[in-house]
Amino acid sequence: MTKVLMVCLGNICRSPLAEGILKSKLPSSGFKVDSAGTGNYHIGDLPDQRSIDVAKKYGLDITDQRGRQFSVRDFDEFDLIYVMDKSNFENVTKLARNPEDISKVNYILNEIYPNQNHSVPDPYTGGLQGFEATFKMLDEACDVIVKKLLKGNIN
Ligand code: 4NP
Repeated sequence: MTKVLMVCLGNICRSPLAEGILKSKLPSSGFKVDSAGTGNYHIGDLPDQRSIDVAKKYGLDITDQRGRQFSVRDFDEFDLIYVMDKSNFENVTKLARNPEDISKVNYILNEIYPNQNHSVPDPYTGGLQGFEATFKMLDEACDVIVKKLLKGNIN
């Protein structure tokens, strides 16, 4: 079982989309996909309505998801931890206990643009276009992740 965690700040806009997209591209047997936020503002909340709407437009239902906060135990549970931006990276890696924990963490867009540490911009304060752009970036990154995972090459 390979386990992948998507992380953003609120766990209501970007990482729920990433979770929904990746889940839709992988067989459920053999893979676990989850998401979390580094912040605690939206624990127990549904994804943002705009993420729900964009996901629905592309055929995905993400309304089973509820916000939760990233915790140090996630380093034990997950093999791969994808962050959306630099502050997510810093907030996650500062909880790391050892180099192995840190080695699990990567910027999701590094799957498309290796080693460039590009961010998926936070669409929270913008309009629906930002959520569309977020979906497209994450969809492209998830295609690369899926290819790697299905080849058994997770690094
Ligand atoms: P996300 O967007 O990190 O993509 O879920 C945000 C959602 C909510 C907040 C910040 C970012 N907030 O401050 O409540």
